[in-house]
Amino acid sequence: MASLGVNIDHIANVREARKTFEPDPVTMVLLAELGGADGITVHLREDRRHIQDRDLNLLKDTVHSRLNLEMAATEEMTSIALNTIPDMVTLVPERREEVTTEGGLDVIKHKNKLRKIIQRLSDSNIPVSLFVDPVQEQLEICAELQAGWIELHTGKYSISKNKKRALELSILKESTAKAKSYGLRVNAGHGLTYQNVEQIAAIEGIEELNIGHTIISRALAVGLTQAVKEMKSLIINPRKDNILI
Ligand code: PXP
Repeated sequence: MASLGVNIDHIANVREARKTFEPDPVTMVLLAELGGADGITVHLREDRRHIQDRDLNLLKDTVHSRLNLEMAATEEMTSIALNTIPDMVTLVPERREEVTTEGGLDVIKHKNKLRKIIQRLSDSNIPVSLFVDPVQEQLEICAELQAGWIELHTGKYSISKNKKRALELSILKESTAKAKSYGLRVNAGHGLTYQNVEQIAAIEGIEELNIGHTIISRALAVGLTQAVKEMKSLIINPRKDNILI
């Protein structure tokens, strides 16, 4: 059964829309954890468009579940991670002009740079996860880099429909099995919703799902604790029949 990492970046997005003090993602974490969040994820972006350094510092002291720091593989972010010591670092690609993380890390292209960063984080006992597309060649390099963890990008699955979605689902299943056979531990996320999460939650071997936008959206209607509870119950008890939509 997969656990749930709740990404709270979109709470900070609302605050930053007015550059004010509310809503405060740090205090909202309490509600997410009450709803059953197994972990809290934040992406400290280089342009600080949502989560701020102050948030990360306070979250380090106040998160009672696990704190997963998503970040670009840069010198600035590496030294922030080494100062903060989150429970996990997930390395993601980052482009300033993107609305959200668009594709997985190209671990083949950036192999040498990633190797050094993984080593430095691992020396400080910070588990490292690489956010990658479910592509065989990328998985092989993740294993070679000994990152320990990967997070499979579920974006293509999330935006596709019918036969294409069934194909993307089978690619994710095969990639999970392949990654595990290489000794990697597997998380997954991006674009998951209340409507499409169950098939992913039912994949054997996926340890954690990182989900943000859909939970924060539902929280506007039902409150964050309830929104997290509803997502948890879908993940804990996914329907295994054919529910592809
Ligand atoms: N995983 C990673 C690596 C991400 O970059 C994001 C988006 O910040 C998510 C998961 C969560 O995606 P979503 O907000 O679409 O649920």
